[in-house]
Amino acid sequence: MLEVTDLHVNYGPVKAVHGVSFSATAGRVTLVLGANGAGKSTSLRAVAGFHKPASGSVVLEGTDITGTSAHRVVRRGMVLVPEGRKIFFPLTVEENLRIGGYAAPRGNLDQGIAEVYEKFPILGDRCHAQAGLLSGGEQQMLAFGRALMSRPKLMLMDEPSMGLAPTMVEKVMSSVRSMADAGIGILMVEQNAEAGLRVADDVFVVSRGETVWSGSAEEARGNKAIVHAMLGEAALDAS
Ligand SMILES: Nc1ncnc2c1ncn2[C@@H]1O[C@H](COP(=O)(O)OP(=O)(O)O)[C@@H](O)[C@H]1O
Ligand SMILES: [Mg+2]
Repeated sequence: MLEVTDLHVNYGPVKAVHGVSFSATAGRVTLVLGANGAGKSTSLRAVAGFHKPASGSVVLEGTDITGTSAHRVVRRGMVLVPEGRKIFFPLTVEENLRIGGYAAPRGNLDQGIAEVYEKFPILGDRCHAQAGLLSGGEQQMLAFGRALMSRPKLMLMDEPSMGLAPTMVEKVMSSVRSMADAGIGILMVEQNAEAGLRVADDVFVVSRGETVWSGSAEEARGNKAIVHAMLGEAALDAS
């Protein structure tokens, strides 16, 4: 459903991404691994419409959407859950969800919120709490919930496990898996290779701005030495 081919993205004179390709499929978790600074966030942000690529193509369900701005991309059914979650701390859980819903094409807001609470009961329990008072794991659930409010077909996730305690990492990964099992395509960037590989179906490895390996999660799990060699020290530290 998503095909990203030979993406190049620059920051002024800095060529941050020069040859990233990956794809994602409905109902599957696609994991993008790569060391710190490899160009993962830059690639996701360019795919989601927050940064114009210099070249390459982004095709969503057969339509070329390269360079389309983020609010239009959301209407086409693809949403980014950004690095660092970027939820609104002073607002309540429910207000954060409503903000996610404003991007939705037609969906009923209250029904959308009810569905998010069904998926993440902890958010329903804390619906009137300030988002800034939630634990890191709960904040990640809220970031997922806010993205779900736009009723996406495909979710891009940038390091959802970052900064979380190991038990919370497991909870977040299992909710990623269950969103995919419900039919949503997931394209997830992770530095925590071990945690990501436990729930992934397909894997792409990005190194120094380029895709250098792709294969099944089974292959990657069975041959972690390959993945670790390509990721370098960072992967060993993170896993
Ligand atoms: N706003 C920016 N301006 C200039 N260079 C940037 C900017 N953001 C990221 N970079 C550079 O682009 C490269 C890729 O960064 P990033 O996409 O954040 O990597 P990753 O998410 O894989 O850690 C790095 O070398 C980083 O220093
Ligand atoms: Mg990043």
